[in-house]
Amino acid sequence: MKTITLNSGEQVLALGQGTWHMGENPSEFSREVAALRTGLDLGMTLIDTAELYADAELVVAEAIKGRRDDAFVVSKVLPSNASYQGTIKACERSLKRLQIDCLDMYLLHWAGMTPIAETLEAFQTLVQQGKIRYYGVSNLDTDEMQEAWAAPGGKGIATNQLLYNLNKRGIEWDLLPWCRAHTMPVMAYSPLDEGRLQHPVLDSIAQRHQASAAQVALAWLLQQEGVIVIPKAVSPEHLKQNVQAAQLRLTAEDLRELQQVFPAPSQPSRLQVY
Ligand SMILES: NC(=O)c1ccc[n+]([C@@H]2O[C@H](COP(=O)([O-])OP(=O)(O)OC[C@H]3O[C@@H](n4cnc5c(N)ncnc54)[C@H](OP(=O)(O)O)[C@@H]3O)[C@@H](O)[C@H]2O)c1
Repeated sequence: MKTITLNSGEQVLALGQGTWHMGENPSEFSREVAALRTGLDLGMTLIDTAELYADAELVVAEAIKGRRDDAFVVSKVLPSNASYQGTIKACERSLKRLQIDCLDMYLLHWAGMTPIAETLEAFQTLVQQGKIRYYGVSNLDTDEMQEAWAAPGGKGIATNQLLYNLNKRGIEWDLLPWCRAHTMPVMAYSPLDEGRLQHPVLDSIAQRHQASAAQVALAWLLQQEGVIVIPKAVSPEHLKQNVQAAQLRLTAEDLRELQQVFPAPSQPSRLQVY
């Protein structure tokens, strides 16, 4: 599987697993745990969660029990908790729910009222305390990234997690190039546009590769430079398909057809978050 290099030089696999909407329904708990474990077995070792996502951190805890070293666990602090003390306490709560000593990566979920410099200071303290290995942000636009980068500890930002899929290509205008120029991988969330990514062209490309439309959408993202892709899947069939998408190579003709129906941005736009 393709790997992406973090600013530390460490490599992570480019295809991971999302957990939004997991932990919302107790009757689904075992199925969701089994899904994450299957994903780990298939090699999708990066698991993205957040304090926001109901009891998803509890699902992750159960999935990684006895196999902590197989997983690269990412969680997020809410902006309303992102003061210096609030971030440290939120991280400690996440560690407790996840039943681990250290998060692989901790992100600010989106920008709120707390100055980014204050959250970054807390992230640096958490690194010093051994409670997180890397830190980053999510849903920050180019101007916010510039401000964060200039703040103390800003150059340690390991990723910006952003909405990115064939339907939502706005970040290609300047944010994705900015991240690439700063050797900062982007984590593409909602890579299947939460299931909304459907088009006859996707189907016809998929048919040529004996694949599914979702696999084409994931393969397209995986072919982008410096992009980690985190689809959420509970269905075992979806999980299998997603990992196989990493082997799918789209041709120049495929890419041309995709560009026609899902064009790259031709002007700047506000950062989309849904
Ligand atoms: N930072 C942020 O603000 C933010 C915002 C949104 C999401 N995220 C993260 O990104 C992750 C992924 O995004 P998402 O959950 O919004 O949406 P997504 O991954 O684009 O779509 C998830 C949906 O696609 C289905 N699916 C998965 N694989 C499929 C396949 N091969 N074929 C057909 N359908 C498939 C899933 O069904 P089943 O589950 O039934 O298999 C689920 O209904 C989240 O779970 C979360 O961890 C972050």
